Amino acid sequence: MAISTTLKPCRRLLIGCTRTVGFLPNCPRRLPSATDHHSLHRLPRPADPEPARPRPYASPSHRGILGIPAAVSDLRRFSTSSEPFPGGGDKAFDRIYIQGMAVKPLELESVEAEALREAGKEEGEREQAATVETEGSVDGGVGNLEESGRNLEVGKDREVSEVEKEAWRFLNKAVASYCGSPVGTVAANDPTTLSQLNYDQVFIRDFVPSAIAFLIKGESDVVRNFLLHIVQLQSWEKTVDCYSPGQGLMPASFKVRTVPLDGSNEAFEEVLDPDFGESAIGRVAPVDSGLWWIILLRAYGKITGDYTLQERVDVQTGIKLILNLCLSDGFDMFPSLLVTDGSCMIDRRMGIHGHPLEIQALFYSALRCSREMITINDTSKNLVRAINNRLSALSFHIREYYWVDMKKINEIYRYKTEEYSQNAVNKFNIYPEQIPYWLADWIPEKGGYLIGNLQPAHMDFRFFSLGNFWAIVSSLTTPRQAEGILNLIEDKWDDLVANMPFKICYPALEYEEWRIITGGDPKNTPWSYHNGGSWPTLLWQFTLACIKMGRPDLAQRAVAVAEKRLSNDKWPEYYDTRAGRFIGKQSRLYQTWTIAGFLVSKLLLAYPEIATILTCEEDLELLEGCICGLNKSSRTKCSRLAARSQILV
Ligand code: GLC
Repeated sequence: MAISTTLKPCRRLLIGCTRTVGFLPNCPRRLPSATDHHSLHRLPRPADPEPARPRPYASPSHRGILGIPAAVSDLRRFSTSSEPFPGGGDKAFDRIYIQGMAVKPLELESVEAEALREAGKEEGEREQAATVETEGSVDGGVGNLEESGRNLEVGKDREVSEVEKEAWRFLNKAVASYCGSPVGTVAANDPTTLSQLNYDQVFIRDFVPSAIAFLIKGESDVVRNFLLHIVQLQSWEKTVDCYSPGQGLMPASFKVRTVPLDGSNEAFEEVLDPDFGESAIGRVAPVDSGLWWIILLRAYGKITGDYTLQERVDVQTGIKLILNLCLSDGFDMFPSLLVTDGSCMIDRRMGIHGHPLEIQALFYSALRCSREMITINDTSKNLVRAINNRLSALSFHIREYYWVDMKKINEIYRYKTEEYSQNAVNKFNIYPEQIPYWLADWIPEKGGYLIGNLQPAHMDFRFFSLGNFWAIVSSLTTPRQAEGILNLIEDKWDDLVANMPFKICYPALEYEEWRIITGGDPKNTPWSYHNGGSWPTLLWQFTLACIKMGRPDLAQRAVAVAEKRLSNDKWPEYYDTRAGRFIGKQSRLYQTWTIAGFLVSKLLLAYPEIATILTCEEDLELLEGCICGLNKSSRTKCSRLAARSQILV
């Protein structure tokens, strides 16, 4: 049987850097071939690639590795032209193609910073673990915010606790280098575990708290390098059994590998090897990666004052590719993003497929951040319009339908079902029997929260912490709802914090529910890991939400709980049991985002001004706008006007 010639070859692509190899001419195996129909469509070859430039410093451990990183940057920085989406209308935002266009090349200026860090090693502070080497200063100070013109009135005179100093040492130790420059932090540096699995990789979501800590400290190079390398990886060929996900997908993680150069035993090259989910356990799609990348890009600009990074053509292209993927039409009836199970921090089967809150909160946040960063011109204005429309619809949807408090649960309890009409009260046909037995006792008189997921005839009433925190941080909730969430947390402290902040979700799935929903996952047993385990990294998002809402006292309390244990327990990834008493059964030690999350919380509490630039305020214009164009006098009423609840402001 003849095989179609348009079939794409299966292969794995890497970004490499070498001394002797000029990128484009000499690295054809890493680029789409001219006969690769699919790749050609996506990544036409640039006109005139620049020759490789030698780097001034080389890491002695990497023989022969100098070169300019980033083959694909040569492609990406020759972007972008745009073409309207077929169909026009509001969805006629840009489709991005890569074509010849000279823009600023990728330059990694951070080798000097690394050299400085090296020089700053403090001998006496290496006692903690023989296996742990330290790099970098540990003053915990706030670096160059003032110098960068942010005028944040921050000083360097804060007293830094021993635990914080230790955390800085471990964070510096976790920095991964590529071609002599820092590019991220590995997920964990656990000397007690033989099997690293993929914890020796740089995860996009894990790096965010590390990045914020480094930015606040004034070490922005690692963040800049990370942002630029990720944008290069974005357009990479990626397949699962010869099927390619969308071009805008960002990897879940990447690994810096040192590999022998083709046909040579003498020379080696370093390569960046991304995982878009094609190697991940369960082949989960890292939907949150691109959203976090956008959020971090904005934070980088805000904290450093360097907006040139986000203005770069390749970076603008990166933003647009992610948005095109998120905003493209599908079969969905809701403005929330439809995803498969395990597409975010919870990257295993946990019954969060559909429209999980965490993804919606990150999506909303990424849309808000993108709107600030997209360079407005004739070709991008439709995209901005599409963003505004989606923001407006999404915030209504979440505020109205995800919110539960005593009053709302009572309403659901008395819902009529099987309503067929545009004016249905119980729009999603929720059967009151779905209200779980624990909720009736658990929901406090004061306060409420956003539920975990909403689908036809299905409300997932579990409390998911990250989604609720980030909904506050990004102003996806109303201010009143945000207060309500913090009130609930205060009221339910023993369930959500107890001996270690913060429960990833509450309550755990148990018995038959655990067997059916997780598929009998032995890692996600009740009150362990993703199934009701406690994750210290969530502290920084909680702190940010608390400071935004004027409740630093709550964050302080949680940080104090964590500070008592984290260092003694060797900075675990997660804790088990209902009250978070045990170190997680399979938890890594020296988990980087545990360390970084703690540091960011400390820094934010010390310098709350920084929290204001990492959050988004309520946008009242979004609430006023409604694109359906229907008003009270129309024959068909706008469904928003028919909404019964008065929680929109
Ligand atoms: C686990 C977590 C995931 C994290 C990764 C690396 O897979 O579920 O959220 O990114 O470890 O730490």
